[in-house]
Amino acid sequence: MNQQAIREEILRLKREKDVLILAHNYQREEIQLLADHLGDSLELARIAANAQERMIVFCGVLFMAETAKILSPGKTVLLPRTDAGCPMAEMADVGGLVALRERHPGAMVVSYVNSTAAVKAVTDVCCTSANAVKVVQNVAADRIIFAPDKNLASWVQRFTEKTIIPWDGYCYVHDQFRTDEVTAARARHPDAVVVAHPECPAGVADLADEVLSTSGMIRFARETSARTVIVGTEAGLIERLRRENPGKQFLSLGSARMCRGMKVTRLEDLHQALVHERHPIELSDTLIQRARKSLERMLDYV
Ligand code: 13P
Ligand code: SF4
Repeated sequence: MNQQAIREEILRLKREKDVLILAHNYQREEIQLLADHLGDSLELARIAANAQERMIVFCGVLFMAETAKILSPGKTVLLPRTDAGCPMAEMADVGGLVALRERHPGAMVVSYVNSTAAVKAVTDVCCTSANAVKVVQNVAADRIIFAPDKNLASWVQRFTEKTIIPWDGYCYVHDQFRTDEVTAARARHPDAVVVAHPECPAGVADLADEVLSTSGMIRFARETSARTVIVGTEAGLIERLRRENPGKQFLSLGSARMCRGMKVTRLEDLHQALVHERHPIELSDTLIQRARKSLERMLDYV
């Protein structure tokens, strides 16, 4: 089958099987163009929680598909590739988090959604990059254990007097951005604005004009009067920015950075997922119930 035939088949199966296709902003363009909704982790979690379709195919990484399953447990949630993982989500573990909590009695645990379902089950409130600051400000504790991203933790710390106790995790894609890349980009494009994701190192966030989630970047790009935007995040988002803002120039901060887990899903994988209804997310009812509380609190807060 050629690519056009595969696309048509995907749309036919989607209608026939009553499927909602969700895709994260870092997906390949071929997937972005077929999604019912393309968004950041918060937007996609909200859509998954309210989905009416029988089945959700999540084109993203495992923790995102698990989040959709936890919020919509009655639905079949498919992840087209079992190797679509987020290494940062694996960096925090339940034992370590429980031990940290024992060392800091009274502290509450806020976990980034980029975490395993088991970690969400021992978390008080989840957050995403779009709402981390508000969640931390709203949580009823002055000390907060923040897992797993130390860079997001350090970003949040700027907006609160609460004590943030960071877990020592990071995103290998965003952690590569460097301050000298910001300096070099500004020298080459003096009129450009620099936007960075809060998973970037603190020094990069210090130098950026805006620090935003992926969908925050989409809105900013649309509204800014700047003609050139230097973007410190994964390359898939930059493709979307270029497509949606043809009159503006979008350049990666330094060389283009790719997230392997986000890029493994191809059109063929989405097609096969629909044909064979694979690979369903399977989580025990107990785990779903325990992990769900921290996600629902997040959705209630902000
Ligand atoms: P967003 O929620 O900003 O889309 O980020 C998700 C992610 O995995 C960033 O690396
Ligand atoms: Fe995980 Fe980083 Fe990839 Fe986002 S970009 S899914 S945090 S590895």
